Amino acid sequence: MSNEMLDQNFWDDHYKNNTTAWDLGAISPPLKDFFDAIEDKDIAILIPGCGNTYEASYLLDQGFTNITVIDIAPTLIKIIQNKFATNLHIEVILGDFFKHQGEYDLIVEQTFFCALPPEMRQQYVAKTHQLLKKNGLLAGLLFDRTFDGGPPFGGDKAFYQSLFEGAFEILTLETAKNSVLPRADKEVFIKFKKNSDVHATVIKVENQNLVLTDYVTTLTAGLEIINSSVNTLSNEVLIVSTEEINLSKAFDLNGVQFKTVV
Ligand SMILES: C[S@@+](CC[C@H](N)C(=O)[O-])C[C@H]1O[C@@H](n2cnc3c(N)ncnc32)[C@H](O)[C@@H]1O
Repeated sequence: MSNEMLDQNFWDDHYKNNTTAWDLGAISPPLKDFFDAIEDKDIAILIPGCGNTYEASYLLDQGFTNITVIDIAPTLIKIIQNKFATNLHIEVILGDFFKHQGEYDLIVEQTFFCALPPEMRQQYVAKTHQLLKKNGLLAGLLFDRTFDGGPPFGGDKAFYQSLFEGAFEILTLETAKNSVLPRADKEVFIKFKKNSDVHATVIKVENQNLVLTDYVTTLTAGLEIINSSVNTLSNEVLIVSTEEINLSKAFDLNGVQFKTVV
C-alpha cells in the first residue's frame, strides 16, 4: 500500500469502524517495565501515532508530568482529548508526526513505525533524531517478523541496526521479554540514544528515472558520512553526517531537483 493510501482517512476510518486490531486495550508489559525504571517524572515524553495511548494513561497514573501525544486520526483524537481534558500534564495533538516540532527527552515507539509505509522509515529516523534533546532516548517495541502485505510492516534486528546506527547509539535491541502472548518472541525492545554529534538529514530527489545513489557521493562530497541509506522507493536518502549538509550545491547537478524533507 502506498504512502497516499495510508493517509488520515485510512486511519480515521479504522477508528470510526472500530477495526483497530492493533489496540492491546492496556499498556504493553515491556513498556510498563521500562517506564517503572524511570526516576525523573518530569522528563518531556512524546508518543507518536499514539492511538488509545494506554501508555500515556499509565505514565500519568505514575505521576509523570510532561507528556505529549500526537495522532493523525481526528475521531481518535477527539476521544482522547475529552478523556484527558482536565489533566494539565498531557498535551493531545491532532497532527502529522512528520510536521511536528518540539524537544523531548524520550520518544516512545509502540506500533507506529510498523504502521508507516516502508518508504517513510528513513524519515522516521531523521525526525525522531531531530525531535530529541541531547542524549534523548527513542525507546519501545518494534516487530521482529514479516507480514503478508501491511500495515503492519515488519522488520528484523539486523535491519533496525543498520537503519538507526550512526544517528543513534544502539543501547538495547533485543527480543522483548514479557510481550503480550500474540507478540511473544516476535518483537524487540529498543533503547536508542540520540547521537548528538551528528546531523540526520533526509534528501528527496524530485526527478524520477534516475538512480539516487549516483548522486549521494556528490551531495556528500567533503563530508564525513557516518551512515546512509536509501528508502524503498529509491527517491529519498538518509544521510548521517558530522556536518550539516549544504544543499545549495545540489541544485547545480544538471537540473536535478533535490529538497531536504527532514
Ligand atoms: C497501528 S496504530 C497504533 C496505535 C497505538 N500506538 C497502539 O499501539 O495502539 C498506528 C497509529 O498511527 C497513527 N498515524 C499514522 N500515520 C501518522 C502520522 N503521520 N502522524 C501521526 N500519527 C499517525 C494512526 O492514526 C494510528 O493511530
